[in-house]
Amino acid sequence: MNVHDVISPRNGQRISNGMLQDNYPRNMWWVAAHRDEITEKPLARWLLETPVVLYRLADGTPAALYDRCPHRWAPLSEGHVDGSKIVCPYHGMEFDTAGNCTKAPTQNMTPDTAQIPSYPVREAGAFVWIWMGDPEAINCDPPDVHYQTDPGWSFLSGYYQVDANWVLIRENVLDLTHIAFLHKNTFKQDDWVTPPEIYMDGETVCYEQEFDLAPLSPLFCAGMGLPEDKPIKRKQIGRMPTLAISFSDWNVHDPAPEPDRRSDFVMRGCHIVTPAQRGRAHYFWGAAFDVPGLSHDVAEKTKAGVIAAFDEDKHLLEKIQAQISQDPRGMDYLEVTLGADGAGVRVRQILNKMLAAEGRSI
Ligand code: FES
Ligand SMILES: [Fe+2]
Repeated sequence: MNVHDVISPRNGQRISNGMLQDNYPRNMWWVAAHRDEITEKPLARWLLETPVVLYRLADGTPAALYDRCPHRWAPLSEGHVDGSKIVCPYHGMEFDTAGNCTKAPTQNMTPDTAQIPSYPVREAGAFVWIWMGDPEAINCDPPDVHYQTDPGWSFLSGYYQVDANWVLIRENVLDLTHIAFLHKNTFKQDDWVTPPEIYMDGETVCYEQEFDLAPLSPLFCAGMGLPEDKPIKRKQIGRMPTLAISFSDWNVHDPAPEPDRRSDFVMRGCHIVTPAQRGRAHYFWGAAFDVPGLSHDVAEKTKAGVIAAFDEDKHLLEKIQAQISQDPRGMDYLEVTLGADGAGVRVRQILNKMLAAEGRSI
């Protein structure tokens, strides 16, 4: 075959993921930030191709506004918070959390037209969630993530900006058969070589798979207090309640625990993806053990291991994005789907359904 030939998928063979275009639903809760990132010092963040300023009022309430003053367009994120108002850094106009101008310093009246889009935000678990679509369409709360702040768990987390479309990340974390290959030198868990069972639990996409006795990935041994060479049983359960977040539970059973030691542990991976700009996404990860009060050393060792592995994902996903962005053939190339893509296929089906409900398509 000539390299200049375009190999196109047959009609209907592929479910599009719209990776090179605006392909994100608006009417859902996305994660805007880790809750600790939002303080009285305004934070600038691109979310859904929109500049947003995130901040807390003096009483701790989080707020989100479009990050452009309507006077001469200064980013409000360069300004400061004064009580319940955010103050523009340029000529001092002030705005409340609904985006209404409450003060224009050089005149007595505030212009009626000085109105900024505001976005509903909610705190849930370790994160602050944002609704950037039609506020009238809010029909649910953010997913249940209370375990993230439950003292019975130790929750570790981190953040990446990834120069790749959010769907690439979402699919990546729902097909963990890549662990045996992409992460062979980090996870060192080489037994995931067959597809998991995929099913729906209501609106939640799920996968499940049991593994025979084998040493656990060294990334998670310290958190569970297990020797790295000890054979354990493992059941992997994945859940994606919404396109914004998914969980990967590593349920570990030690068939021969030391005296006075537990035999069962959970490490709950958490994968949060939020579209940022075209071809760029926020990825917040979490790794939680159902073990209270992990020591600083164990937490740091675990984080370092997870980061080394996720660096491998970021590197590869950015390569994929760059290639399809720069190749003039773009998305016009065949795409083969394997049995292990079952959860990812459902991601695309859900995405297409949500976009259709918003009157859009990819
Ligand atoms: S640009 Fe904001 S007050 Fe002038
Ligand atoms: Fe990975």
